[in-house]
Amino acid sequence: MTAADYSEKIPNNVDLREDRRLQRALESWQPNFLRWWESMGPALPTHDVYLRTAVNVGREGWAHFGHVPMRDYRWGVFLAERDRDRRVAFGQHKGEPVWQKVPGEYRADLQRLIVIQGDTEPASVEQQRNLGATAPSLYDLRNLFQVNVEEGRHLWAMVYLLHAYFGREGREEADELLRRNSGSSESPRILGAFNEETPDWLSFFMFTYFTDRDGKYQLGTLKESAFDPLSRTCEFMLKEESHHMFVGTTGVDRVVERTVQLMIEHDTDDVGPHGGIPLAVIQKYVNFHYAVSLDLFGSETSTNVANYFTAGLKGRWSEERRADDHRLLDDSVLVDGITEDGRIGQTEVAALVGLNTDLRRAYISDCRNGVNRWNRILDSAGMPQRLALPHIAFNRKVGAFKGIEATPDGELISAEDWARRKGRWLPTDLDKTHVRSLMRPVHERGKIAAWIAPPRQGINGKPFDYDYVHLG
Ligand SMILES: [Fe+2]
Ligand SMILES: [Fe+2]
Repeated sequence: MTAADYSEKIPNNVDLREDRRLQRALESWQPNFLRWWESMGPALPTHDVYLRTAVNVGREGWAHFGHVPMRDYRWGVFLAERDRDRRVAFGQHKGEPVWQKVPGEYRADLQRLIVIQGDTEPASVEQQRNLGATAPSLYDLRNLFQVNVEEGRHLWAMVYLLHAYFGREGREEADELLRRNSGSSESPRILGAFNEETPDWLSFFMFTYFTDRDGKYQLGTLKESAFDPLSRTCEFMLKEESHHMFVGTTGVDRVVERTVQLMIEHDTDDVGPHGGIPLAVIQKYVNFHYAVSLDLFGSETSTNVANYFTAGLKGRWSEERRADDHRLLDDSVLVDGITEDGRIGQTEVAALVGLNTDLRRAYISDCRNGVNRWNRILDSAGMPQRLALPHIAFNRKVGAFKGIEATPDGELISAEDWARRKGRWLPTDLDKTHVRSLMRPVHERGKIAAWIAPPRQGINGKPFDYDYVHLG
């Protein structure tokens, strides 16, 4: 059952042809999706793009690479293979067989979780819609489009679940996923970070590093779900998602690398006049995107999330590798917050209500890897400067720190102080204007913009100067 059926209108490995009603429902959603893609997807006209398409969900050879016109991309429904012995790994149903149908009492909560995840997928495509016009190379342009088509496929993954398991309400929610738009004032996307614009390529790399990584952690918790179709869907999405983070990680690598070259060449930190992005500006972009992404994990404490865990809807990151009872009824945890005497500190809560904090901490330690990597680039060039993640209380709009202001070092400061100093820590209009001024398209084969270093390798064994995209 692992091979995808491409003879159908909607490629799938879920035997769609066996369920005519579901097939018809999804086939009638398909033209709406394509209309959305045409009007809200990549704006740059292209003839075709060297893209990978999922053809198999097995361990090896799951993807096929080739030039395809983007509107002909075969978006499909793919679930990871089913494990017939799989059992619930946590919560009050621990040890019971996983669910192939949605239990009535959890229907509303599961639907909500799927809608929230589903909403982020088309949102990022919308946010990145205009980036093609300023791509630094055809290689980067291709990576952008790869991320875009796969976020489109992730939307399909969530819409399949809504259609297959949630009846009329599910179908209505699937329509709403195409009706909301990133940044719209009447019907914005559900989560804040997905209504921010992605106006330049440094933002895009930061987004794919920090915000797609949030996606990885959210999918990781849903992969643990007792609702097996959701678990299998997310497992396969995670496979695609790792490429998105690769784009972010290596994208920032290459910006740092180029900045360092210019610093050495011109013996100055101020590489702006020499066509580069100063390290101080890169740091501000890190600060901004990291804080916005931390907000996506929600409040430090949440009874909703405690209930999701107990019910078996959403687990922890690496649930099965945790050495505890997977029920957490008697455990406690320290969460970040403002202490009784008004300082930034920690307070003790029941482990179940602190699960957002648990997930956020797994995410933070993962984010450190990127910063260490970028610092190694600085180190091996003999540079004393270092990049850093800001303090958890810095520039937060959600959770315990939303009412206070703190420096990147975690020092509590007044609102006036913040207003006066924030331009040192977050991108100013001047910084953004400079970055945008560098965003001139390089759409010529084998060429690259001056603010970024070329990649070490091409895609799928192809060289950097391969014709990854044919413009339209
Ligand atoms: Fe995604
Ligand atoms: Fe992604």
